[in-house]
Amino acid sequence: MRIKRNTYQKICHVIASNIRDLVKHHDFSVLGLATGSTPIGIYKELSYMKDTDFSNTLTYNLDEYVGLDKHHSQSYEHFMNKHLFGKLTFHSNHFPTEKLLPYYDAMIENSKGIDIQILGIGTNGHIAFNEPGTPRDSKSRIVDLTENTIKDNSRFFDSMDEVPTQARTMGIDTIMKSKRIYLIAHGKHKKDILEKAINGDITPEIPASFLQEHPNCEIYYSE
Ligand code: F6R
Repeated sequence: MRIKRNTYQKICHVIASNIRDLVKHHDFSVLGLATGSTPIGIYKELSYMKDTDFSNTLTYNLDEYVGLDKHHSQSYEHFMNKHLFGKLTFHSNHFPTEKLLPYYDAMIENSKGIDIQILGIGTNGHIAFNEPGTPRDSKSRIVDLTENTIKDNSRFFDSMDEVPTQARTMGIDTIMKSKRIYLIAHGKHKKDILEKAINGDITPEIPASFLQEHPNCEIYYSE
């Protein structure tokens, strides 16, 4: 697999433009969305696209913390409202809430699957919150976050003790069924893990390595 290198702004522009093209040329589209610092630039670009009608587009977010109310400043629902959903109106936006989690995979399947899935990558190689050791056939479920992820995400909280230790995540199996995937790694601290995930062995120890088996996945890196 080839890693496409460019500036963060250019990558976000290309991905946002591809999303716009998808939405413009289809009566109905489904997006899979990530949170975290990486996709913010894509959402910024999308939010300028006021001439595009997203009212026939459904969204499914990858994950949500367990134990944080949706109004909590660090909940992923709050994040999405702030960066995208408060600016653009979609048909409907879905999160793996406690109520929806048991039906999440079936809901996505009934929506005819995800047309474009945006992914970031954790410094331990996780995609969504599928942590090292996750099997390829994993479904949407509750997971324990690793020490590494809790530490990485503590930058958004006042202290490490406040970071939830569990999350609800889309599984690898559902992610792999997406028709097109864009993974972005942003920052030098992601360089090594990206290289291993994309050019190393395919292994549950680096969940992002399963993407090597996806027929339509593009990998982007910016320093
Ligand atoms: C978040 C998600 C995670 C992040 C990853 C990178 O919805 O799915 O896998 O993409 O932890 O996070 P950032 O972008 O903050 O470095």
